[in-house]
Amino acid sequence: MSAQVQASPGHFVPLTRERIPELMVLERQIYPFPWTAGNFEDALRSGYSAWTMLSDTDAMIAYAVAMLAVDEAHLLNLAVAPNWQRQGYGWRMLHWMACTMREYGARSLLLEVRPSNLGAQALYRRYGFEKIGTRRGYYPAHRGREDAMVMRVTI
Ligand SMILES: CC(C)(COP(=O)(O)OP(=O)(O)OC[C@H]1O[C@@H](n2cnc3c(N)ncnc32)[C@H](O)[C@@H]1OP(=O)(O)O)[C@@H](O)C(=O)NCCC(=O)NCCS
Repeated sequence: MSAQVQASPGHFVPLTRERIPELMVLERQIYPFPWTAGNFEDALRSGYSAWTMLSDTDAMIAYAVAMLAVDEAHLLNLAVAPNWQRQGYGWRMLHWMACTMREYGARSLLLEVRPSNLGAQALYRRYGFEKIGTRRGYYPAHRGREDAMVMRVTI
C-alpha cells in the first residue's frame, strides 16, 4: 500500500467552485454518463468531502467526492485524468479519501461500481473492498439501465 502512496508527485487540495469547469472537462472525457457541474456544486453546498489531486504544474490529476453518514462514508465519485491513469494515482486518491473520511469518524467506506467497470473493480478489490450487494438498474446505460455492484471496506 505505502509504495504507491509515496511514489509519485501530486498534492491534495480541496475542490473549490472555481475548479469545477476544469474538472468538468475531465469528467466528460472519463464517463459516458458524467455528473453535471450542478452535481459538483450541490456536493460542495451539501458539505461533502470533495478533493482534487494536482500536479506540480497545477494540472488536475484526479478527484473524488464522498459523503459521510455517521460512521460510514459513501464514495460517490473517483476519477483519474485519462493521461494519468495506471500510474498509481487512483490508488493514492482512494487512500487519501479513506484516510480523510476516517479522520471525520468513518469506519467503513462504501461505493457503487458498474459490473462492466473491471478496472475500477480491480483497484477496489486490491484495496480490500468486498462486494456486499447489488443495486438493480442503478446506472443509466446505452441500452436501458445497468446494475451497480455495492462494495465496502473497513477503514
Ligand atoms: C478506476 C480508476 C480510478 C483507477 O485509477 P488509476 O490511477 O488508473 O489506477 P492505479 O494506477 O492507481 O491502479 C492501482 C491498481 O488497481 C488495479 N487497476 C487499476 N486500473 C486497472 C485496470 N484498468 N485494469 C486492471 N487493473 C487495474 C491494478 O491492480 C493497479 O495496480 P497495477 O497498475 O500495479 O497493476 C481510473 O482508471 C479511472 O478514473 N477510471 C474512470 C473513472 C472510473 O471508472 N471511476 C470509478 C467509478 S466507480
